[in-house]
Amino acid sequence: MGIIFPSTVARLSDGSAARLALQRFTVCNLIGACRYILLRLRFRNLRVGRFILERGADMYVGPDAEIYFGRGVHFRRDFTGRFHGHLTIGDGVFFSRGCYVAVYSRLTIGNNCKFGERVSIHDENHVVGRGPEPIVARGFVAEPIVIGNNVWVGANASILQGVRIGDNSVIGANAVVTHDVPANALAVGIPARVVREL
Ligand SMILES: CC(C)(COP(=O)(O)OP(=O)(O)OC[C@H]1O[C@@H](n2cnc3c(N)ncnc32)[C@H](O)[C@@H]1OP(=O)(O)O)[C@@H](O)C(=O)NCCC(=O)NCCS
Repeated sequence: MGIIFPSTVARLSDGSAARLALQRFTVCNLIGACRYILLRLRFRNLRVGRFILERGADMYVGPDAEIYFGRGVHFRRDFTGRFHGHLTIGDGVFFSRGCYVAVYSRLTIGNNCKFGERVSIHDENHVVGRGPEPIVARGFVAEPIVIGNNVWVGANASILQGVRIGDNSVIGANAVVTHDVPANALAVGIPARVVREL
């Protein structure tokens, strides 16, 4: 296990100097405390509860990002985050190994969601077009993604821009979610289709 962050740190929205309110600091060992401070300095615009970030996790938090994590959020090894927009993650959310989350506009994840290995969530696309213009020169478009409470996403699934997934739904392994999935539904396949109510 990597780092266990102490509860509730101060609000740090606009890249201004961090005001750290460390609770339970006394239970951290020296190395853990040093790593915590370094990470807090790196992620100045986080507003987080207690969360676990395992080794090999790689998070970039852009200067305009707004981040909120609830309690007990767990990022397993090799998680990659590219946070440029608004990100809200509810209580008890679990990302298994190798998940990738890119947020350019807004991503909202409810409480108690579970993401299997290598799930990717992208709210952005390169602009799709014709001709020889380099893809990167066309820029990005991004649309918010909303994932409700108690959603389980199977391994290797991809959740793409503009999608809403309702509460208590299950997304099968390897699915590509390109359209909304209602609450209490099982959706599988590429593109993901609802195969039954739960
Ligand atoms: C979706 C899943 C949960 C199965 O749920 P289930 O309630 O047992 O559903 P069923 O097995 O009855 O499947 C319903 C239909 O969807 C199909 N299906 C199930 N999972 C599928 C998947 N991942 N991709 C495509 N089709 C799938 C089944 O073949 C079945 O189709 P059929 O009716 O034509 O035979 C399971 O298949 C799955 O994908 N689990 C993810 C496992 C995982 O990633 N774990 C990581 C740990 S977090």
